[in-house]
Amino acid sequence: MNSAPDEAVKLETLAVHAGRGIDAASGAVAPSPVLSSTFARAADGSYPQGHIYSRASNPSRAALERCLAALEQGAAATAFPSGSAASMAVFQALDPGDHVVAPGDMYHGTGTQLRELLQRWGLQHSCVDMSDLDAVRAALRPNTRLVWVETPSNPLLKLSDIAAVAELAHGSAALCAVDNTFATPVLQRPLQLGADLVMHSTTKYLGGHSDLLGGAVVARQDDAFFARVRDFQTKAGAAPAPFDCWLLQRSIATLPYRVRAQAATAQTIAEFLFGLPRVAAVHYPGLDTHPNHALARRQMRSGGAMLSFQLRGGRDEALAVAAKVRLFTRATSLGGVESLIEHRSSVEGPHSTTPDNLLRVSVGLEHVDDLIADLRQALD
Ligand SMILES: Cc1ncc(COP(=O)(O)O)c(C=O)c1O
Repeated sequence: MNSAPDEAVKLETLAVHAGRGIDAASGAVAPSPVLSSTFARAADGSYPQGHIYSRASNPSRAALERCLAALEQGAAATAFPSGSAASMAVFQALDPGDHVVAPGDMYHGTGTQLRELLQRWGLQHSCVDMSDLDAVRAALRPNTRLVWVETPSNPLLKLSDIAAVAELAHGSAALCAVDNTFATPVLQRPLQLGADLVMHSTTKYLGGHSDLLGGAVVARQDDAFFARVRDFQTKAGAAPAPFDCWLLQRSIATLPYRVRAQAATAQTIAEFLFGLPRVAAVHYPGLDTHPNHALARRQMRSGGAMLSFQLRGGRDEALAVAAKVRLFTRATSLGGVESLIEHRSSVEGPHSTTPDNLLRVSVGLEHVDDLIADLRQALD
């Protein structure tokens, strides 16, 4: 099955089959990773299988990229060794002197790239509340070339209206890129809503088992800008290992079922937390009290598997609850089969704007009753 966008084929089917096929040489049904860094030339000097050297292209990576493009219904995808390498590739495909509009509430590492690495390189940026369209409009400048969206955002689970932001960006001759790590293509398809690029930390739900690092960019059009993004992989050398590509594609086969089950459990946990006396706020787009709930219903298939909540009191109260959980693991990251809980502000560093009474939860695949029992005893 190739990566051509095909509305008729369902996501579950694409997750299993896109980029995969029976191995012609051996008849193997399950693909094996192609670890070779180099590929043989024919006597006439040509490369019969199309691969020369694994930084430029590799069969396991090419299979993964076809799969990723199909899942996001894009024209092409490029895989990276981390989500951070993927976002850097997009930013460095711009020119020094260009301007980026980015969300105030975004993954702190993306903010660090813009502030510490790219400012020095001459890329300007402004941070706005991306859920406020007037603020986005006001932030656009004549040299704005990219509007970066992260929805739901990390860690406050704010939503941005992808279609409306993309329209504003295009009205200003800028591209719109969406970090779709939290929602995954199971819950949200930004390219169908008008975005030009989708970025993933595939470390999270796509990998799904907390055992690999990866990133990806998927493009609506395989155009000159995307060629620059791909250069970051093939020429700058940000190429993922073939084994990781293979492992990632193996996990993607179960992505739709994992994400849907995790999101259903997250919805139940958010409802449980809401209204508890020690809980001051629950941030979860699937709750009808969430300020962007109507947008969530329009733009997402459910509220997702991430949530955060604030304790009455401050940092000490939040840390005390995190200290008492037994089934949740106190750890950073998200999207794996095991549930994680994290005090975000203490991991984000001095630039953090995250409230210090906030805990972020990545809901895994354990039984919902066991997760709720754990939170209940920690909050009692
Ligand atoms: C929303 C989001 N984007 C990007 C990243 C960066 O990805 P990676 O850790 O794979 O570099 C993360 C990591 O936590 C993330 O949560």
